[in-house]
Amino acid sequence: MDKIIIEAPAKINLTLDVKGKRDDGYHELETVMHPISLVDRLTLTKADDDIRIESNCELLPRGKNNLVYQAAKLFFEKTGRRAGVNVFIEKNIPIGAGLAGGSTNAAGTLLGLNNLYQAHLSPEQLWGLACQLGSDVPFCLIKTSALAQGRGEVLSPLPKIDKLNFLLVKPDFHIATPEIFKKLNLSEIENSPDTKAFLIAWQEYDIIRLASEMVNVLEPVSSAQHPEISAIKNMMKSLGALNAIMSGSGPSVFGVFTDLTQLKNAYQHFKQNYNEVFQVSSYVRRE
Ligand code: C5P
Repeated sequence: MDKIIIEAPAKINLTLDVKGKRDDGYHELETVMHPISLVDRLTLTKADDDIRIESNCELLPRGKNNLVYQAAKLFFEKTGRRAGVNVFIEKNIPIGAGLAGGSTNAAGTLLGLNNLYQAHLSPEQLWGLACQLGSDVPFCLIKTSALAQGRGEVLSPLPKIDKLNFLLVKPDFHIATPEIFKKLNLSEIENSPDTKAFLIAWQEYDIIRLASEMVNVLEPVSSAQHPEISAIKNMMKSLGALNAIMSGSGPSVFGVFTDLTQLKNAYQHFKQNYNEVFQVSSYVRRE
C-alpha cells in the first residue's frame, strides 16, 4: 500500500468548563467533546524523504507551522523510519474556528502513517505523540464522543447515542485560543456547566435536557470581543434551536435542532449573511 485516505472530523464542545489554572500555564478543563460530520480528507502517499503538504485551501501553511508537518516529523522520529510522506489536505473545516481543524489533521496524520508504514504503534503510543502536538489532538485520535479532562488529554469515551443534528455557523473572523484563555478570569465565571447533569441527560438520551445543559465558560470572553457571537446564538434560538452555544474558544456557534424543517430554514437564513454555514450531525466512525 502506497497511499491511504483518512477522514478527519471536526469537533464541537457540548460543554466546556475551566476548573483552574495549572502550574504549566495550561488550564484544567472539563469538557464534553463531540465529533461531527464536517470532515477534512487527508491523502497520505509514501515518499522516500521529506514531508510535503498540499491543500485545496490557500490559507493553510505548507511548512513546519502546519500541525500535519509536526505530526509526521514526530512519527518518523519515534519509529526511526527514514522515509517521508506527501500529504494532500482537502480542507472543509474552517480554520481558527474552535472546531479542532488543525488538531484533527494532526491526529489523522498519525493514524494514517501508522497504517501506511505498518508501524504498529499502540493506541497508548499514539496518544503520547498526540499529547505532544496539542491539547485537542488525543481526542481527535479516538473520533468518538468523550469527556475530556486535564489539559484535554485525559479522555473518558461516552456511550454511543443516536445522531444529534446541528446548525454550525462560523462568522468571518478568527480567534486565537491563547488570547481567550489569557483573558478568562476564573473568579468572574458566572455560568458554568453542570457536567454531571449533562452526562445523565446523555445516558438517558434526553435531548431537551442535554441541550439545556450546554454551556461554555469561554463564550462570555469571546463574545465580549465579538458581540456577533451572541447575536448568532440568539438568532439560532429564535429560529428553533433547542439551545445554541459557542464551540471551544470560538468563534463558531452551533445549535441543536430536533425539527429538521426548522434546521433547514435556519440554514437558509444564515446562508444569506455568512459563507461558512453547515448542516451537520454527529460523526459516525466507519472503521
Ligand atoms: O494545546 P494547544 O497548543 O492546542 O493549546 C493552545 C493554547 O490554548 C495554549 O497555548 C493555551 O494558551 C490554551 N490552553 C490552555 N489550557 C488547555 C488547553 C489550551 O490554557 N487545557
